[in-house]
Amino acid sequence: MIDLKNMEPFVELPEALSHAETQTLKAMEDLGGKFKPSASTGNFYPPSENDEWTNGMWTGEINVMYELTGKDIFRKKALEHVDSFYDRIVSMSSINNHDMGFLYSPSCVAAYLLYGSDKGRDAAIMAADYLISRFQEKGQFIQAWGPIGSRDHHRLIIDCLMNIPLLFWATRTTGDEKYEKVALAHFNTSIEYVLRPDDSTYHTYYFDPDTGKPLYGVTHQGNRNDSAWSRGQAWGIYGSALAYRYTGSEKALDVFDRTLRFFLGHLPQSVIPYWDFDFDDGSGEPRDSSALAVAICGMLEMSDLLNRPDLRSDADKLLGVLYRTCAVKDPSLSNGQLLHGVYCKKSPTNDARNRGVDECNTWGDYFYVEALKRISTPGWKAYW
Ligand code: GLY
Repeated sequence: MIDLKNMEPFVELPEALSHAETQTLKAMEDLGGKFKPSASTGNFYPPSENDEWTNGMWTGEINVMYELTGKDIFRKKALEHVDSFYDRIVSMSSINNHDMGFLYSPSCVAAYLLYGSDKGRDAAIMAADYLISRFQEKGQFIQAWGPIGSRDHHRLIIDCLMNIPLLFWATRTTGDEKYEKVALAHFNTSIEYVLRPDDSTYHTYYFDPDTGKPLYGVTHQGNRNDSAWSRGQAWGIYGSALAYRYTGSEKALDVFDRTLRFFLGHLPQSVIPYWDFDFDDGSGEPRDSSALAVAICGMLEMSDLLNRPDLRSDADKLLGVLYRTCAVKDPSLSNGQLLHGVYCKKSPTNDARNRGVDECNTWGDYFYVEALKRISTPGWKAYW
């Protein structure tokens, strides 16, 4: 167990903010009007189309940078991106999974909140409409992947806890309760089945397509069906914190406490988690820095909601380690923010393929800058 009490506070915040701005500007220059792909290659992102589940997080990084600096260059670029996200949902281009929150919260909901963009609001509502169309009555969950209603894809995944805030937001914005109804049903089903008695989590969980009966949990991106995929655990932490913000439910609070306890209790002494909690220092396995960035954001959200300075102080120390060990401090080495992430890693006991192994990834970059903003501005209003 790491010794959080005796860890150094994050005194380098001013220099971290300066490096982060340099990195966002560097990526904007390299990418032009295009997007970061999900993960870098050799720590550099080539210009890519707006056609993956991750593109909203590049726009989100730009939005956070606007909030941190007030510079118009960021506002302008973020609003250009809103046009692209609007076109994407209207044309239903690469809209074939549940990742509407990852795509539309940090881009279009943010543009509505920050700049009053009605186009952003409309695009985000359309995305919420598509997301609820993936709800499966048999099992009461949002189907993650595959064609809607496909028998082979009758499962949920823990990552979706980050997509349902879009639905809570949509109900508050439109007054229509249909979004929140789906969000609540999905949340309740997810936590009932993905959370294990030892507070670790399954990545995905299958249901019987005919009866809705819960069947079994399996991994896709973790090491084994019964192991704890680090980023999945982090999605559980931040997702339950956000569910608590919208519902105030004791259940959400309990899931937050349990998933966080497991996560902190299983970090290696070197602090940055390996890509699965099966691995510890000396394993030679790559780390997933993005998992820690996500967990830190969840801790900071909950610290604001519960007025818990202890959570803020722990998150601050963890962010200090993340900055020292993983943040890019020289733009000639990378056009990302956070080194040492893992998108997917193949193992003998999973069905993943190697993607973005020991690379920057778009969500790691985003949640790192979100964490910087949260540490700089307690009570910050999140895009989720
Ligand atoms: N949501 C997909 C992932 O975390 O890789």
